[in-house]
Amino acid sequence: MTGEVEKGSQRLVTPTLRFSLEIVRPLHDVDIKSLKKLNSRALPILYGDDYWATACDPTKSLYCGFALFKTSSNRLLGSIVLVRDIVELYGIQNMSKKERTLVQSYGKAAYVSTLMVRPSRQRRGYGTLLVQEACVQMKPYAKMIYLHVDVSNEKAIAFYAKCGMTRYARIKNYYFLNDGPQDAYIYMKELI
Ligand SMILES: CC(C)(COP(=O)(O)OP(=O)(O)OC[C@H]1O[C@@H](n2cnc3c(N)ncnc32)[C@H](O)[C@@H]1OP(=O)(O)O)[C@@H](O)C(=O)NCCC(=O)NCCS
Repeated sequence: MTGEVEKGSQRLVTPTLRFSLEIVRPLHDVDIKSLKKLNSRALPILYGDDYWATACDPTKSLYCGFALFKTSSNRLLGSIVLVRDIVELYGIQNMSKKERTLVQSYGKAAYVSTLMVRPSRQRRGYGTLLVQEACVQMKPYAKMIYLHVDVSNEKAIAFYAKCGMTRYARIKNYYFLNDGPQDAYIYMKELI
C-alpha cells in the first residue's frame, strides 16, 4: 500500500500498488464504461451492467475488483474481479460435485470471476501481476483460490499453468457459448 491518493474523474481512489508506468487500484464506478468496452474485446461472454456495477461497488463486500491502468493516460490495461467467499455468494448446492469437493476440502475459497488484459497489451506480464495481487488480496479471506476456464482457451490455460495454478478437474458443459455447451477446467492455487 502506498497510501497515495490519485484523482479519478469523479471521486478519489486509493491505489494499492504503484509502478513507474502503471498503477493497480481498486475498481470504481467511474471504470464501468471502460470495463464493459474491454469485456467486449477480450472475453467471449458479455457481462451486463449489474455485474460491473457490483464489481465496482466497494460496499459489496463479497466482491473485490481491481485493475491496472497506464499512469500517463489513465487507460485501462486489465482487470480482475474476485469473490472473497464463493460458498456464501453462490451456495455449495449450486456447484458441480467436483467443485463442491474442492471447495469443501478448503473451507473458505476465493474465486476468480473475470480476468482480462487488453489484447494489444498481452504478454507483458500484466495478467501475472493481477493474479499475484489477487492472491495477496484474498489470503486474509480464503485458503484457496480457483477459477473455471474454457477447455479451448489455450492461451489462458498456458497462462494459469505459468502462474503456478494446478488443473484440478474437467467440468462437463460448464459454459453455454454461441457454439453450444463447452467444458471447463478448474484451476486452483493454495493461498499459503
Ligand atoms: C489470459 C490473459 C489474462 C493473460 O494475460 P497476459 O498479461 O497476456 O499474461 P502474462 O503476460 O502475464 O503471461 C504470463 C505467461 O503466461 C503464458 N501465456 C500468456 N499468454 C499466452 C499465450 N497467448 N500463449 C501461450 N502462453 C501464454 C506465458 O508463459 C507467459 O509468459 P511469457 O510471456 O514470459 O512466455 C490474457 O491473455 C487475456 O486477457 N486473455 C483474454 C481473456 C481470458 O481468456 N481470460 C481468462 C478467462 S478464464
